[in-house]
Amino acid sequence: MLSAAVILALLAASSASAYSFERSLDSAFSGHLFRRDITDDLLNSTLWPAPAANGGKAWGKAFAKAKATVAKLTPEELFNLTVGLDGRCVGNTAPVPRFNIPEFCFGDGPAGVRAIQGVSQFPAELTTAATWDRDLMYRRNKAMGQEFYDQGVHIPLAPVTGGPLGRSPLEGRAWEGGFTDPYACGEASYQYVTALVDSGVASVAKHWVGYEQELYRNPHGLQTKNDTFPGGTQLPVSSNIDDKTMHEVYMWAFAEAVRAGTTHIMCSYNQINNTHSCSNAKSLNGLLKTELNFQGAIMSDWGAHWDTMLSMHNGLDMSMPGSQLDSLLGDFWGECVELINNGTVRIDVVREKVIRILTAYYHLGQDVKPLPDFVYAVTDFNSAGTSYVDEVVSYRNVRKPGTADLIKEIGTSSVTLLKNTGGLPLNKPQRVAVLGNDATDNIYGSSSCGATNSGCLLNGALNGTLTIGFGAGSGYAPYIVTPLDALKQRAIQDNTEIQAMVADSNSSFAESTISTIVPDADVTLVFVNRWYGKGIDALSLDLTGDADYLVAQAVNYSSNVVVVIHATGVVNIEKWVDNPNVTAIVAAYLPGQESGAGLVPVLYGDVSPSGKIPWTWGKSLDDYPPNGIVTDMVYAPQSNFTEGAFIDYRWFDKHNITPRYEFGYGLSYATFKYSKLTISKTHVKDTTSIMDTAEPFVGWDGSNSLYDVLFTASVKITNTGNYTGSEVAQLYISIPEEGQPIRVLRGFDKVKDIKPGETKTATFDIRRKDVSAWSVVDQHWYVPNGTFTIYVGASSRNLPLSTTWTP
Ligand SMILES: *[C@@H]1O[C@H](CO)[C@@H](O)[C@H](O)[C@H]1NC(C)=O
Ligand SMILES: *[C@@H]1O[C@H](CO)[C@@H](O)[C@H](O)[C@H]1NC(C)=O
Ligand SMILES: *[C@@H]1O[C@H](CO)[C@@H](O)[C@H](O)[C@H]1NC(C)=O
Ligand SMILES: *[C@@H]1O[C@H](CO)[C@@H](O)[C@H](O)[C@H]1NC(C)=O
Ligand SMILES: *[C@@H]1O[C@H](CO)[C@@H](O)[C@H](O)[C@H]1NC(C)=O
Ligand SMILES: *[C@@H]1O[C@H](CO)[C@@H](O)[C@H](O)[C@H]1NC(C)=O
Ligand SMILES: *[C@@H]1O[C@H](CO)[C@@H](O)[C@H](O)[C@H]1NC(C)=O
Ligand SMILES: *[C@@H]1O[C@H](CO)[C@@H](O)[C@H](O)[C@H]1NC(C)=O
Ligand SMILES: *[C@@H]1O[C@H](CO)[C@@H](O)[C@H](O)[C@H]1NC(C)=O
Ligand SMILES: *[C@@H]1O[C@H](CO)[C@@H](O)[C@H](O)[C@H]1NC(C)=O
Ligand SMILES: *[C@@H]1O[C@H](CO)[C@@H](O)[C@H](O)[C@H]1NC(C)=O
Ligand SMILES: *[C@@H]1O[C@H](CO)[C@@H](O)[C@H](O)[C@H]1NC(C)=O
Repeated sequence: MLSAAVILALLAASSASAYSFERSLDSAFSGHLFRRDITDDLLNSTLWPAPAANGGKAWGKAFAKAKATVAKLTPEELFNLTVGLDGRCVGNTAPVPRFNIPEFCFGDGPAGVRAIQGVSQFPAELTTAATWDRDLMYRRNKAMGQEFYDQGVHIPLAPVTGGPLGRSPLEGRAWEGGFTDPYACGEASYQYVTALVDSGVASVAKHWVGYEQELYRNPHGLQTKNDTFPGGTQLPVSSNIDDKTMHEVYMWAFAEAVRAGTTHIMCSYNQINNTHSCSNAKSLNGLLKTELNFQGAIMSDWGAHWDTMLSMHNGLDMSMPGSQLDSLLGDFWGECVELINNGTVRIDVVREKVIRILTAYYHLGQDVKPLPDFVYAVTDFNSAGTSYVDEVVSYRNVRKPGTADLIKEIGTSSVTLLKNTGGLPLNKPQRVAVLGNDATDNIYGSSSCGATNSGCLLNGALNGTLTIGFGAGSGYAPYIVTPLDALKQRAIQDNTEIQAMVADSNSSFAESTISTIVPDADVTLVFVNRWYGKGIDALSLDLTGDADYLVAQAVNYSSNVVVVIHATGVVNIEKWVDNPNVTAIVAAYLPGQESGAGLVPVLYGDVSPSGKIPWTWGKSLDDYPPNGIVTDMVYAPQSNFTEGAFIDYRWFDKHNITPRYEFGYGLSYATFKYSKLTISKTHVKDTTSIMDTAEPFVGWDGSNSLYDVLFTASVKITNTGNYTGSEVAQLYISIPEEGQPIRVLRGFDKVKDIKPGETKTATFDIRRKDVSAWSVVDQHWYVPNGTFTIYVGASSRNLPLSTTWTP
């Protein structure tokens, strides 16, 4: 809570005349793009004042140290810490030698250190989500954080914590995150954040908030794709989100990131309710810093900063990338010392920002345990706004023994068996046919698509196997174990044969090869994919290139075709999914460098598949809420989130749409029986909040928490099959309140290695927030009166057990 004195000071800071001056200054900086119409409330730091940081529950010492340092910094030193400048990293700030504060290095994540070599290419967050394994989520980011540390990156631009959440299956970069469900995304975010911080680097939860399409995200200063609105003359799309949906859906995972102790949060390209996300007082000062009690620093995405004075008072703490790239992306705070000197900006406003920045630095211990110098790359942007590496300064291999095994384990554990009429596990095949360029290497080399993996468009060139999407969330691989590499290893070991056709299937030579090798084989493995990434939304759910044609050819010659899909999201498989000759389908997502090594043990039955899909696999785009991606070519594109909380499975449930595969679905070689669902009403105090939020809730007594556990559910899972297997048990709740989805996910537990005949227990801790709804009128969470139904089972539509709970 704010003290009265702080509130008064803030009120004084925003007197009406200062405000109108700020307005005119901003108009000068951003020309006709600044609009004052409907956005006033959101821009009003009188209504939504910036709360002073206090270090919160866990950062008290670091906060005190930061405060003491900041008191001694000059205006120039202060601003030097809040604005980016040219340097060797994707983002850089100037050092403050007087206080031994280094040049901070910011580096792209969230699937590995980009854009250099000498690091690992981790499975995407999407792939990691499909494991539903909190332990693997933590271990992934711990290993990745160590690589950032060892490369000298203080501030990795990771993880994605619900922006995008995946409102539309066409969102090009949703694979950088994982679950299209706030609860599950929140659980993953918590693991990712704690792991990064535990490895001594920052955690940048991103992108806040409602960032759900690439089209018209329009960074400041960059070309749009359409000449009607050349360079910077079309506003970024506005995500118009009502307060209830904001709380119950889009804010949820950020709340978990704050609880987990994220040191930074990145504001997004899109506008929120027609205000630039990085200048929105309600969302930054109000929701993040007051309601979630966030004690760290908010930085702009590269080009998401649009003005000088509004952002100054409305919550932004760091302007990125500042003057780097010749100020292409907007350098609004570069000349700010003058504003302090002539009284336009109070120095306390800037001190507050730097206190937050240095609290993070001291809390991470980066002052006492300095990172090695970064050794690497100078990045730049080309005219299309795609970053590339100008110059690689030197090379350092920081990959640790064991990390490759971890990557392989995540791959294995994510593989999701979608269909199986007997094709898998492979039954000692003597002759295997492999079709599809996705099975093999890029003939130009695994790094040939460049620093963002988006440079391989030449003449529709075959890119080889898909291990990661493209954009800033991509990363180089040290090598790729392709599916074909791993299958050959297996053939050598088993003394069997493999014939592979990995060229474009649409040529007479390829067709005749297929007609020769497929009929002779015991099984035909077809590898298909779909590429997408940052900056481009998908236009359809179609697979890339010749994939469907390839499957069509395979099923013509074989009654035992197994299809493996590497994809950034939902793809349309309706053309062949029901073909009886397709005897198994698996999703392998974006597995990173150990692709084939993780997959092949599942195909051969050494390990039973245990991944489950982290979104709903619809049969067509029409199954999803309309207007997921707004394409209106207008000056100020509007994306009204009219479906509210009903995204993904909540939409399918509400409208009774049968998906191809439901949220949380995945088969196994084992079979599991669920029994004995019980609930114990033992109230357990919250022990998981590393930092406390200040989210208001009914029943607060001064010592309890929204995150206290109100009850624990447990269920017995028996393996009734013949293979050892792991099972992701899921718990859904019907909240007895008008306007709530039919069911929401509120628990999952991956129970590992259940042997045939064995029974193990899955448990789910249900917290007060998990059974609460957000009241827009009263602005608090509350547990509705009534009877809650608790469902447990193997997916969102396979819920054999249920019971009830009353508050
Ligand atoms: C901001 O809100 C205050 C308090 O409601 C109001 O007096 C002031 O006029 C508002 N300023 C702007 C620019 O809307
Ligand atoms: C601020 O940063 C600039 C650019 O690195 C540097 O030239 C200047 O000396 C810095 N100022 C202070 C006071 O450290
Ligand atoms: C841009 O969009 C407008 C309106 O949809 C369309 O008429 C025009 O052809 C587009 N221009 C280009 C270069 O794609
Ligand atoms: C956006 O507008 C909606 C509808 O008026 C409102 O409920 C919501 O709180 C606003 N969000 C923000 C961040 O201002
Ligand atoms: C303060 O400095 C800014 C930036 O140089 C300038 O635009 C503004 O007019 C100055 N204000 C006053 C009151 O001198
Ligand atoms: C190759 O990769 C690019 C991205 O670099 C992608 O746009 C293209 O569709 C891919 N081509 C094929 C045939 O997969
Ligand atoms: C294969 O090539 C033929 C002839 O150029 C073309 O009509 C057909 O659309 C192509 N099929 C695929 C799947 O690319
Ligand atoms: C599959 O076989 C049918 C019947 O022989 C033929 O008409 C069709 O063109 C074949 N499809 C492909 C993709 O080769
Ligand atoms: C299945 O494969 C056999 C060849 O093994 C072929 O004769 C038959 O037409 C195929 N069926 C379908 C539905 O593609
Ligand atoms: C979005 O909602 C606003 C306010 O209800 C409405 O005026 C506007 O037409 C809507 N825009 C679109 C593209 O649906
Ligand atoms: C397990 O193996 C036994 C013996 O081979 C067989 O009868 C049974 O059908 C198998 N069970 C399952 C679920 O596959
Ligand atoms: C639940 O019932 C109690 C007792 O009737 C009442 O005081 C309370 O306001 C109700 N809460 C809600 C959320 O309706």
